[in-house]
Amino acid sequence: MIEYRDTMDGAEYSTFDGFCVGWKKPLSTVQLRAVISNSTFKILAIDSATTKVVGIITALSDQINWAFIPYLEVLPEYQKQGIGKELMKRMLTKLSQINCIDLTCDPEMQPFYDKFGMLKSEGMVIRRYLSE
Ligand SMILES: CC(C)(COP(=O)(O)OP(=O)(O)OC[C@H]1O[C@@H](n2cnc3c(N)ncnc32)[C@H](O)[C@@H]1OP(=O)(O)O)[C@@H](O)C(=O)NCCC(=O)NCCS
Repeated sequence: MIEYRDTMDGAEYSTFDGFCVGWKKPLSTVQLRAVISNSTFKILAIDSATTKVVGIITALSDQINWAFIPYLEVLPEYQKQGIGKELMKRMLTKLSQINCIDLTCDPEMQPFYDKFGMLKSEGMVIRRYLSE
């Protein structure tokens, strides 16, 4: 069974193993734990059989008008079971009073976000690792 929690209570570093799949510069479990902890909102999907974190979504927000969703990931072996959709649905509920919700994604991910009523947009970013 998958449980959804919005706190980091009791989550050890080792419970964040296996994330940042395919990243050029993956975060260590210490960094990932800090990223989640420092985020304004976070929801963790936890496999209650193992107590391991299997999915993560975070949002940064001024809590008045803007929120940005920088991070959504489900461990490969848990994908295609509805966990990503549930994390996104729960985060949008948390952000229901916020007018502007942004995220960046590759074009192939747009159909996933379309399902939540998100609109295609354009943006500018800095990615320092691309020039390293
Ligand atoms: C994207 C991701 C979070 C989806 O999680 P998931 O648990 O596998 O997704 P779900 O099982 O909830 O899928 C929900 C729906 O989205 C669709 N979907 C899932 N991944 C998709 C993708 N990469 N592109 C398009 N649609 C996708 C599914 O087909 C499903 O559609 P349905 O409801 O019509 O059946 C997961 O594939 C992942 O962690 N990918 C690597 C990290 C990543 O790309 N994160 C997003 C950064 S912008």
